[in-house]
Amino acid sequence: MAKLAHAQWSSKMAFVLAAAGSAVGLGNIWRFSYLVGESGGAAFVLVYLACVALVGVPILLSEWLIGRRGQKNPIDSMRELAKQSGKSQGWALVGISGVLAGFLILSFYSVIGGWSLNYTLSSVMGTFSGQDADSVSEIFSGMLASPGTLLLWHSAFMLLVIGIVARGVTKGLESAVRSLMPALVILMLILVGYGMTTGHFGEALEFMFSPDWSALDGGVVLAAMGQAFFTLSLGMGIMMAYGSYLGEDVNLLSTARTVIIIDTAIALLAGLAIFPIVFANGLSAGEGPGLIFVTLPIAFGNMSGGVILGLMFFLLLTFAALTSAISLLEPTVEMLEERTPLSRITATLVSGIAIWLLGVAALLSFNLWSDVLFFGLNIFNLLDTFTAKILLPLTGLGAVVFVAWCLERKGVEQELALSATGMNVWNIVARFIAPIGVIAVFLAGIL
Ligand code: PFF
Repeated sequence: MAKLAHAQWSSKMAFVLAAAGSAVGLGNIWRFSYLVGESGGAAFVLVYLACVALVGVPILLSEWLIGRRGQKNPIDSMRELAKQSGKSQGWALVGISGVLAGFLILSFYSVIGGWSLNYTLSSVMGTFSGQDADSVSEIFSGMLASPGTLLLWHSAFMLLVIGIVARGVTKGLESAVRSLMPALVILMLILVGYGMTTGHFGEALEFMFSPDWSALDGGVVLAAMGQAFFTLSLGMGIMMAYGSYLGEDVNLLSTARTVIIIDTAIALLAGLAIFPIVFANGLSAGEGPGLIFVTLPIAFGNMSGGVILGLMFFLLLTFAALTSAISLLEPTVEMLEERTPLSRITATLVSGIAIWLLGVAALLSFNLWSDVLFFGLNIFNLLDTFTAKILLPLTGLGAVVFVAWCLERKGVEQELALSATGMNVWNIVARFIAPIGVIAVFLAGIL
């Protein structure tokens, strides 16, 4: 794959935007907030932040490094680098499990993207105006109980993703991300401001940042690590694919810092916007995946300008979900395109339809198939749990272990451009802390 021939600044900017566009999505607002609520608050948040720093950073750097040195799609980059370092071709499995994870995640991600689309329309129509907590909850459970509504919006979301990926219009998306990301941040700040007027902001701050360590167990730590992977789009070869388009002039560490700061800031702002509303309205923080859909509409329905703000919020959320969903479909399409005779459009259609079908099974677990359980989990939760707690950590572990232990040290030094001390820190973190952390948390969670 040819490297970008852009001027240094613009290629770096484009890369930061693409990576941030993939990272910032439903994970930051929808998934982060409901996991915090379900897992007891601050203990989860602090473990999550530690996971981002100690595990997320080295794995993000490893994935980019593999892409930039391999210059191919994730599977072939792994294979090529393993060959160059005299290691087993079995390392290609790391790429394969990443592509599989992306495929599975997109199926349920699209269902939530559909909720967000639906809520965009409801906001325009003023459905939430003046509604209290009970009626907003009812609107949400009404949507979940209706397979037809969920199917309609999941299909609409998936159609958008397929349409965009088939055309390969990533250029247009880059410029859109550039203006929409700041808009999302501003809107989150307005919502945090609204949270401050509820009189329950202090309670929310305490919930998010003052830990009750007794709430901590293996499950919470595993969920926090799963979230660190999910939110940074790690463990799915996406960052490897993006790395393969990277010029040598881009400093990986500073880019990682930018992407991580944006991603983490949006998640924390989401929490600070949502929990005051939860407490002010006597809602349960442990509501689960519906949390933002039963809290934020209450705020929008009862503040001046709420119709416009609600519309903007759900539009931006849908957009953030779309840029992430596109990055999720891309590896599967790329793989089919390169390994089968299918054209890009057919490959997009085939994988899109397969993912859509799996998504239908996921959405039925909210109604008709709510009793269909595997290992005690419905299909939706099974897909989320299996990917976030098993596939993502294993793929990420493979990437960091490969870079830290198998690649030639000189090459790694060149790629990371670290000082001698920096290199020592890298060696400790990437060789020991991150892998041991992932393995320990992973085992604690499944045993
Ligand atoms: N990082 C995205 C989010 O937080 O919403 C979701 C996501 C995108 C997860 C791409 C995984 C992925 F590969």
